[in-house]
Amino acid sequence: MRLAGHYERLGTERAFEVLARAKALEAQGRNVIHLEIGEPDFDTPPHVVEAGARALREGHTHYCPAPGLPELREAAAEHLSRTRRLTVDPARVLVAPGAKWFLFFGVLAVAGEGDEVIYPNPGYPIYESAINWSGATAVPLPITEETGFAFTAADLAERLTPRTRMVILNSPANPTGGALDRELNAEIAEILAGHDCWILTDEVYSELLYEGVHDSIASHGLLDRTILLDGFSKTYAMTGWRLGYAAVPPDLIEPLSRFLINSVACTAPAVQLAGVAALTGPHDAIDAMVAEFVRRRQVLVDGLNRLPGVSCVMPRGAFYAFPNVTATGIDERTLATRMLDEAGVAVLAGTDFGAHGAGHIRLSYANSLENLQEALDQMSGLLEAVAV
Ligand SMILES: Cc1ncc(COP(=O)(O)O)c(C=O)c1O
Repeated sequence: MRLAGHYERLGTERAFEVLARAKALEAQGRNVIHLEIGEPDFDTPPHVVEAGARALREGHTHYCPAPGLPELREAAAEHLSRTRRLTVDPARVLVAPGAKWFLFFGVLAVAGEGDEVIYPNPGYPIYESAINWSGATAVPLPITEETGFAFTAADLAERLTPRTRMVILNSPANPTGGALDRELNAEIAEILAGHDCWILTDEVYSELLYEGVHDSIASHGLLDRTILLDGFSKTYAMTGWRLGYAAVPPDLIEPLSRFLINSVACTAPAVQLAGVAALTGPHDAIDAMVAEFVRRRQVLVDGLNRLPGVSCVMPRGAFYAFPNVTATGIDERTLATRMLDEAGVAVLAGTDFGAHGAGHIRLSYANSLENLQEALDQMSGLLEAVAV
């Protein structure tokens, strides 16, 4: 029996593989601290859970319109308009089971053989996977430590060609915690204004920004060709609910709706109604979560900078630290493996996010302060033994 030839082009997310390996070690009685997986360790706020449960009890258990329930499309349009200083028409908002859906099908809808798509590297692995699957050429835009885990407008300009069909941006970013500020976005917008290409801006960490104010490329006059993507997984601790939304250019509403009909039919209506409660309800649980992430970020980054051979730039957003480990003398993949096997700390190698992540590892601080401290102690033991 054979698989389709192009199946080989499909990438994966290493976080799930490392999680499985860590679970296997735990099953053997080993203690593992999980800093590999990118999801908040908080519970979904109770009023959101209640809204979802109520919707199920009230019979919202059937198919619904593929583009999303009008209530959620309106709430999402209002949220995007307010937070991105834009006017977003609810008719432009599409809803899907997770922000990830838009990454994959957003690329498939516009790019194919002969096209090029520029994407951040290191970056969320699904970008490269989707581009490769589409048949287009994946053109990495290096995200560098020197630019505070961003890039320069010139870096982008020199990668744009007449074949560039789409540019993917991510701010705040996975895996680096870097963020694009307003000045850089203004420069990028000026460059992109002269190019006939789509933009996909992945802003699922927009509310997890600890320094400065979130800025979207879409706010710089480019909404008409931008897929402006946001979701519920990170902000509202709703990873398992599977819910995301995007404001999409008018020309992509029908094609993306068709992809929805062909793939998932629609997003579970009760889940969508929970999303309405999340967007329109109290924000105090989110504020408390953000305050806790700020505390953890400081403890983790300070602790990492004390480890032999490790230096860590302060991440501006998301919940990841991306320390440079080149001075340990161990390559990032071996180090990540040894950290799990010898120190019981599950982390990811920077190259799990693309070739430009070499020399780094990624740690998620979506874990308790107590566990972060314990992980630092364990990593310190390993690195000190290596240093002698
Ligand atoms: C940058 C980025 N975009 C999208 C996603 C996927 O989000 P969702 O759970 O809404 O599909 C993730 C999840 O880790 C992410 O890090």
